[in-house]
Amino acid sequence: MKVSVSVLKEYDNLYDAVLKVNESSCDFLHIDVMDGKFVDNKKFSVDMVKQIKKVSKKPLDVHLMVNDIKTVMEYANLKPEYLTFHVEIIDDVKTIKYLKSLGIKVGLAINPETDIKYLKPYVSDIDLVLFMSVNPGYGGQSFNYDVINKIKEFKKMSPDNLIINIDGGVNDKTINFCKEAGCNMVVSGSYVTNNQFYDDAINKLK
Ligand code: DX5
Ligand code: ZN
Repeated sequence: MKVSVSVLKEYDNLYDAVLKVNESSCDFLHIDVMDGKFVDNKKFSVDMVKQIKKVSKKPLDVHLMVNDIKTVMEYANLKPEYLTFHVEIIDDVKTIKYLKSLGIKVGLAINPETDIKYLKPYVSDIDLVLFMSVNPGYGGQSFNYDVINKIKEFKKMSPDNLIINIDGGVNDKTINFCKEAGCNMVVSGSYVTNNQFYDDAINKLK
């Protein structure tokens, strides 16, 4: 199981959190970018992500909760390992093809209320789907179990090599449901960053 650690809840203590992620056994550093429009919260400017990239030893997994494709392109310039934006805002498959031409792995995130049929036109062009198990905007919310059946349903139509990732409320209890549903990557925020030693939590997710 690949584990991507979200440092959203450590926003005021970011430098220390990124260093702890560096020292941990997780696979990616998950950055939650919010534009104050797609969600009410506003976090992580392009410049901040640029600074984080300099400090991070882990590849960046950038999750964009933003309303427009222009903003997606601004973050693409930073060349993260994964760039995930929401299926709710995509206009054209050309956007994905362009990002791929830059050498970026592309993900589409899907909100709890959004039907998986909206992912269908893109499944053969993307690298990852990020199933939201909370309404995006804040860390520390509880896991919405409805997502489990949604993932199982989606797996019936998804290519084998597509990474199935899940985000929101992932902890030592909910991880078992994620595994059973067929996730091969998870994002975990507060469950990990509430520990002094991040590996105490990460090892329970792996
Ligand atoms: C929610 C974010 C999540 C969040 C995860 O909008 O996309 O990545 O930070 O945090 P936890 O694991 O605390 O729910
Ligand atoms: Zn996220």
